[in-house]
Amino acid sequence: MSRIGLFFGSSSGNTRRIAKMIKKRYDDTTMADALNVNKATPELLASYDYLILGTPTLGEGALPGLEADCQQTSWAEFLPQLQDIDFSGKTIALYGLGDQEKYPENFVDALGMLYEFFTARGARVVGFWPSDGYDFITSKAEADGEFFGLVLDQDNQKQLTDDRLATWLRLISGEFGL
Ligand SMILES: Cc1cc2nc3c(=O)[nH]c(=O)nc-3n(C[C@H](O)[C@H](O)[C@H](O)COP(=O)(O)O)c2cc1C
Repeated sequence: MSRIGLFFGSSSGNTRRIAKMIKKRYDDTTMADALNVNKATPELLASYDYLILGTPTLGEGALPGLEADCQQTSWAEFLPQLQDIDFSGKTIALYGLGDQEKYPENFVDALGMLYEFFTARGARVVGFWPSDGYDFITSKAEADGEFFGLVLDQDNQKQLTDDRLATWLRLISGEFGL
């Protein structure tokens, strides 16, 4: 089995496309194919010691899911299924997509929700990312000048994505044995 699990939620496809860009860089022994959480089981996700998890923020600072008007279930429905799992000993890197111009007061909040959820269950979250270079007011995904994972804004800063992603993957490579 691949060593690293790669899971995402997505409404309009941006977060899925980033997951595919990540997977493209690694072979199947190293990383599993990107899987939408609406096709995943709690057992499968919990079977990995190393995880990369991606989410957009929808609604007003919400996780993707039916209440945020997604066509299918997503993180909002999947997280409750994970609530009794002990993630201690697991290493998780998070990435989040958002729109800093339209949603400056809830920028990438869902990334913060994933961070809260998995750290509360013992996971070690790596891959914090500086919040310089983004223009927003408040975010649940930020503390002391750092986001709790990689932040990408395909709506306003798409041209920066390739570089941000490459730099972040280098940043987490030691933690993930890449
Ligand atoms: C209805 C709607 C609500 C959104 N709400 C937020 C938000 O609260 N905060 C934020 O940072 N981005 C918000 N966004 C921007 C999305 O997170 C962004 O467009 C993202 O790239 C979508 O990813 P996806 O294509 O994987 O669904 C919203 C987008 C839509 C369409």
